[in-house]
Amino acid sequence: MDKRDYFIKKLERQAIDSAPERHPLYQKINLKHARTVLDVGCGTGAVLKEIACLTKGRVVGIDSSENMIRIAKEVLTDLDNVELRIGDAHQIPFESDAFDVTTCNLLLMWARDPAKVVEEMARVTRINGYVFASLEPDFGGEIRWPENKKVDPIFAGKAVRGKGGDPFIGRKLRMLFVRAGLQTEVGISNLEIWNCKQYEKRYLSSREEYRQTLRDNGLSKEEIRSWEREYQKALDEGIAMEFFPQFYAIGRKVRFL
Ligand SMILES: C[S@@+](CC[C@H](N)C(=O)[O-])C[C@H]1O[C@@H](n2cnc3c(N)ncnc32)[C@H](O)[C@@H]1O
Repeated sequence: MDKRDYFIKKLERQAIDSAPERHPLYQKINLKHARTVLDVGCGTGAVLKEIACLTKGRVVGIDSSENMIRIAKEVLTDLDNVELRIGDAHQIPFESDAFDVTTCNLLLMWARDPAKVVEEMARVTRINGYVFASLEPDFGGEIRWPENKKVDPIFAGKAVRGKGGDPFIGRKLRMLFVRAGLQTEVGISNLEIWNCKQYEKRYLSSREEYRQTLRDNGLSKEEIRSWEREYQKALDEGIAMEFFPQFYAIGRKVRFL
């Protein structure tokens, strides 16, 4: 599988795995009855597709990457309520108060200036409409067992930081939403602890990416092999435990901003 197909599959898998966490939250933001929805940083459209199927309204997706928008257009051909555009989340190319609901999934962690992005999302949302950010992790809350002193810090934030992301965006969500002038509710969406079969499925499908991440962070072949053996053993024995919180924020726009 080439890099492009791998990335499409990865976002698709992430969207499917995390869909049950978003569904109850869609009710809170009244997605079903929204007439206009904007999904910011829509990527390949994996989550936008879910949104478009849950509302009768018009759904617009923007992403700063021309490539992502091209792929999203290929993936979403069947949906007639979707429109896709290139656009920067820091300067959303729409008028103020234009959307009933504005969403983003796994975006703020990667944004250059997340405060500006939330401000922009609030601006383009109408009064009494909702701004919704989902799947924003906080690696500081990560739990892993068994421990590995070399590997754990890499997966607990170092790798994300190395790629330009903010591994601690989760804890900042409330501040970002409150400072954007929104009436704010925050929570953790993934409270379920997976079983070892689920960890194994994800591990096997992402193994190459894990190896690459560990290589990029300076681990030798032998160190990677040793971790793989250790991890596989824990999975086989059924004793592995992992958790890291994925935060969401819902903001209601109750006044003109
Ligand atoms: C991890 S992907 C998530 C994609 C999609 N929301 C999903 O959950 O499947 C993050 C996306 O945000 C986009 N992105 C990053 N910075 C952006 C910005 N400033 N404006 C718009 N999109 C941005 C990237 O191009 C990428 O497609």
